[in-house]
Amino acid sequence: MADRKLILTDPETNKQLDLSVVAGSEGDPTLDIAGLYPKLGYFTFDPGYGSTASCKSDITFIDGGAGILRYRGYPIEQLAEQSSFLECAYLLLYGELPTQEEFTDFDHDITYHTMVHEKINSFMQGFHYDAHPMAILAGVVGSMAAFYHDKLDVNDPDQRDLAAKRLIAKMPTIAAAAYRHSQGWPSAYPKNSLGYSERFLNMMFSVPAEPYEINPVAAKALDLLFILHADHEQNASTSTVRLVGSTGANPYACVAAGISALWGPAHGGANEAVLKMLNEIGTVKRVPEFIQRAKDRDDPFRLMGFGHRVYKNHDPRATIIRKACHEVLEDLGQADELLDLAMELERIALEDEFFIERKLYPNVDFYSGIIYKALNIPTSMFTAMFAIGRTVGWVSQWLEQSATPTRIGRPRQIYTGATEREYVAIEQR
Ligand code: CMC
Repeated sequence: MADRKLILTDPETNKQLDLSVVAGSEGDPTLDIAGLYPKLGYFTFDPGYGSTASCKSDITFIDGGAGILRYRGYPIEQLAEQSSFLECAYLLLYGELPTQEEFTDFDHDITYHTMVHEKINSFMQGFHYDAHPMAILAGVVGSMAAFYHDKLDVNDPDQRDLAAKRLIAKMPTIAAAAYRHSQGWPSAYPKNSLGYSERFLNMMFSVPAEPYEINPVAAKALDLLFILHADHEQNASTSTVRLVGSTGANPYACVAAGISALWGPAHGGANEAVLKMLNEIGTVKRVPEFIQRAKDRDDPFRLMGFGHRVYKNHDPRATIIRKACHEVLEDLGQADELLDLAMELERIALEDEFFIERKLYPNVDFYSGIIYKALNIPTSMFTAMFAIGRTVGWVSQWLEQSATPTRIGRPRQIYTGATEREYVAIEQR
């Protein structure tokens, strides 16, 4: 693209600034405003970062208007249909689909790192039995820096790669252990003869007292959900990982921060909230009442699993999950009235002017909970499932950022507090 510039003139001083238009390989043009404060003395104000690009990235592309999501150029629909989660992990981390040999090595590396230090298991015993799995996940992942502190040099590419693999490999082990802890079950060690998703199911549900048979339909569905959750460019948790990473903090601290950000109901916590909402609605008859509440500006209630900052047409992940939902329930021979309820809610909402005007559609979290429920994953684990998939995105984005010199992320503010005043001694107040 030819050099495009926008010229900004300050009417008070008549000073001018050329703002370069930075173009990526595709996507909306972006104004480079880095010179704004040094040259004109202005900051920009963009709460919620609705108009701000925080970095350049080669990893994931979203076109929210067209409902497009691509990992390293590959459409999510093709990856969902033809790839596997571990192959997508390789793609996101290293930029290309692996050859057979590369994949075998990668699979071996991930498998080889699935066990956690035994002290991590004892550490987990310190949590109360009813601790939320996301609280355990954030705490335990943060603690990994204490267990693997000999390989924390963020300036060493090999150590960074090792930390990325450790995080991808151990996240399912830790998540399953968090669940087992809540059940009072003994630890289940990873079975390395199994694939990534099968291994997770085995760690979640096997007990020493009887054999556990992995249902291939469940493992395939889980793998698909992990693929769909793997990355989503600069969402809140990934931006958190990048911001923490910009300080030079270790990768376990960065990802623990990402987990905490993901937990919020406006982000990854929405999948748990959707199921709670569907249960609360209970019957199709009550759908209009809840739609009404979602539209009421005085009611804080929102339709969980609806709306997205970027997608204003449809969330391609939701389309894939909606279809998978029907297939999985059919394959498992289950019927779930929550699916009927969800579909009716979607139908009514999509015909309603309020939702049409605001371009609110079901997002990735709307149907995922119904699949998790069919796989017997408890509701409290839903966001932890999201975290397992998203770990790949977090570490890929962290690796990308760490490979190039980065300035610490440090936004400014518009100060609206008291102006200077004199300190008054306590007895005179
Ligand atoms: N139900 C009812 N109204 C909504 C909803 C909803 N789910 N989402 C947005 N709106 C309204 C909102 O009140 C606002 O109306 P008005 O213009 O009259 O004030 C308008 O739509 C624009 O909403 P916004 O809050 O400015 O949009 P945002 O881009 O800041 O927020 C969102 C995006 C996803 C946080 C929001 O849509 C939401 O809270 N959805 C429910 C939670 C959810 O499903 N989150 C998962 C997101 S996808 C997966 C992930 O990121 O983890």
